[in-house]
Amino acid sequence: MDVWILESAHAVAVKAADICGELIQRKPDARLGLATGATPQALYAELIRRNRQDHLSFAHVETFNLDEYLGIGPDHPQSFHRAMRDSLFAEVDIDPANTHLLRGDSSDPVAEARAYEALIKRRGGIDLQILGIGRNGHIGFNEPGSSLGSRTRVKTLARATLRDNQLGHPDFEEPIMAITMGIGTILDARALVVLATGAAKAKAVAAALEGPLAAICPASAIQLHPDATVVLDPEAAADLRLTDYYELVDQARRRLPRTSGRI
Ligand code: F6R
Repeated sequence: MDVWILESAHAVAVKAADICGELIQRKPDARLGLATGATPQALYAELIRRNRQDHLSFAHVETFNLDEYLGIGPDHPQSFHRAMRDSLFAEVDIDPANTHLLRGDSSDPVAEARAYEALIKRRGGIDLQILGIGRNGHIGFNEPGSSLGSRTRVKTLARATLRDNQLGHPDFEEPIMAITMGIGTILDARALVVLATGAAKAKAVAAALEGPLAAICPASAIQLHPDATVVLDPEAAADLRLTDYYELVDQARRRLPRTSGRI
């Protein structure tokens, strides 16, 4: 696991954009796995800036989103479809036909989940999956107790998630279920980039990176992935025990030429 503790939430977004940008330069038709929520918003803003100012093109990029609320359609103001359109897709040169999201309003969510798994496989798998972490340690909507081998499926949201989501939308009755990529689906991505910012994430981050591998903290499954990069601000990193080691790794990294890769 490659852990970066950077000085600010802005620096986290810039680092994540560097990783996405390097992939897209190397592979213009890269397949990106995307997340919604507050954390990746600064990353998406930075990608939009690079699209406009640095000519980072999404013309051949294909995207797969992690999850969607069950029971709401793509035009619903609280849908993840809408959030992705507003925060990224409408602002860059991506072909809307290349942006894939689960349909929360599907009449057969079980078939929808199965078809999404098949689509990801048919397209050749996800090259780079962006992940946020819930305060309860969820990734996607894989709530505590989720099977670490799970595939895309319907999940009931945890009370903590319902509470967190309601905070931003006091007038909106949140759906209590979602369709989400499974943890096994997420682990199939060739690389993971996990982002966390702010003190509210400190406990979940510590459990995910340094706690036991366990269904009680779904994000701990990233420990199994051979190419996972975790990018944190100091507040989100506050409860980590190996900070001293991560700093040492950072010093060692600076001595290596950029092309030397992971250490
Ligand atoms: C969103 C998702 C969730 C969020 C997590 C953190 O598509 O899958 O796992 O990444 O709930 O959300 P924020 O970033 O809003 O704290």
